[in-house]
Amino acid sequence: MDIGIEKIGFYTPKNYIDIVELAKARNQEPDKFTIGIGQSKQAVPAEYEDAVTMAAEAAEQILSDNRTDIGLVIVGTESSVDESKASALFLMDLLNLPEDARAFEIKEACYGATAGVQMAYNFIANNPDKKALVIASDIARYGINTPGEVTQGAGAVAMLISNQPEILKLENKSVYMSCNVGDFWRPTFSKTAFARGKFSNQIYIEFFQTLWEKYQAKYQATAEDFKAMLFHIPYTKMGAKAMRTLEGNIPDATYAELKNQYQESIKFGREVGNLYTGSLYLGLLSYLINSDVKAGEELLLFSYGSGAVGELYSAKVAKNFKDNLNSEEIKQTLEQRQQISIADYEKIFSKSIKNGEKVDPAEVTGKFYLSEIKENERLYSKK
Ligand code: HMG
Repeated sequence: MDIGIEKIGFYTPKNYIDIVELAKARNQEPDKFTIGIGQSKQAVPAEYEDAVTMAAEAAEQILSDNRTDIGLVIVGTESSVDESKASALFLMDLLNLPEDARAFEIKEACYGATAGVQMAYNFIANNPDKKALVIASDIARYGINTPGEVTQGAGAVAMLISNQPEILKLENKSVYMSCNVGDFWRPTFSKTAFARGKFSNQIYIEFFQTLWEKYQAKYQATAEDFKAMLFHIPYTKMGAKAMRTLEGNIPDATYAELKNQYQESIKFGREVGNLYTGSLYLGLLSYLINSDVKAGEELLLFSYGSGAVGELYSAKVAKNFKDNLNSEEIKQTLEQRQQISIADYEKIFSKSIKNGEKVDPAEVTGKFYLSEIKENERLYSKK
C-alpha cells in the first residue's frame, strides 16, 4: 500500500519586517543578513496569533467537508500554549474534527512534525481507511537585538497523510539519531529561546554527515539517486552549509545540480524566516511549487531538531502532484502580506493578551484567533 502526503496547507501571519531594515536598526551590514544569513523578510505574528490559530489556518485549507475519516491529529510544536492541554484539542472544535480520533501534541524542537509524519505513516499502515492530520506550527523567537533575532519567523504547515499520496509518497526508508546536546533550548519560564548559535550550526552539520553515511550504507544509496536534498531551514544559509560537506565526495555535476535544486527549496523560507518544526515542510512546498521536479523523482529530506534529534528519509514525487498543490493560494499568502516598521514590530513583540482581556474581532486579519483569556484559560474563535 502506498502511504504519504495527500494535501499540504500553509499559513504565515499577515505582517512582516524587511531584513535590510532590521540590519540597519541593529547597526549590522545588510549583506550579513541577506547573504551571510540568507533571509529577506521575517513574519511577525499578531498578539492574537499563536501555535493553535496558525495550525487551524493551515489545516482548514486542506480539509474537505467530510472530516469523519480523520483518525489521528498531531500538532508538532515547541511554541506550546499550555503545559498540560495539547494544542491539537483546541482544533477539535475549531476545525470540527471527529471525536473518534487520537489528538495530541509532539514536542522535540524542530523535529516534532517529522516525528508526527512517521507516526502517521504507521497509523495509516494499520488503519488504511483513515487519514492523519499532522500540523507543524511555531513562533520562532530569540528576542530583540540578539544574534538569533535575524532568524526568527512564524507559521504553520499542515499535511494530510493517507493511502492516497497525491503529492508525495513516503518510502519507509529512513535513518535517525538522538543525542543529549545543549545547542538550543527554551525553559518553561521564557518566551524566547536560548541558543549556542555557532555550536548549533556545527551539531546540525555533524548530524547531517552522520545520517548521510548511515543512509548510504543502509540502502546502498548514492547522491545521484536524488533529484534534490531538502533541509530543515532555520535560515537559508544553514542547509547550504550542510550540503557543502558533500563537495568533493560526490561527482561535481551531481553536487552542482543539488545546489541548484536547493535554491528552489529556500525561496519561501527566505520570505518568512524560521518556522521551527514547519521549516523542512515549507522547504518541501517551496521546492514542489518552484522547481522543475517531475513525478517519480526521489527527494531526500533532512529533519533536525535541536536538543537533538535528526532524521534523514526519502520520498517519491507523486504523479499528479502539481494538480494537488494549492500553489496559487500559497503564493498569494506570501504576496498579500503587509510590511511593518521595526518600531511597530518591537511594540508587537512586547505585547501579549492578559488574563481577563478580550480581542476585538474587527482587528483580526485571519479566520482563527485567540479571542479571550478567561480564568487563565485561552479561548479561541473562528470569524
Ligand atoms: P552571528 O554570530 O550573528 O553571525 O550568528 P556570524 O558572525 O556567524 O555571521 C553569519 C554569516 O554571515 C557568516 O557566514 C559570516 O561570514 C557572514 P558563514 O561563516 O556562516 O558562512 N557575514 C557576511 N556575509 C556577507 N556580507 C557581510 C557579512 N558579515 C558577516 N558583510 C547565527 C549567526 C546563525 C549563529 C545566529 O543568528 C543564531 O544564533 N541563530 C539561532 C540558532 C540557529 O538558527 N541555529 C541553526 C542550527 S540549529 C537548528 O537549525 C535548530 C533550530 O531551528 C531550533 C530547533 O530545532 O527548534 C534553531
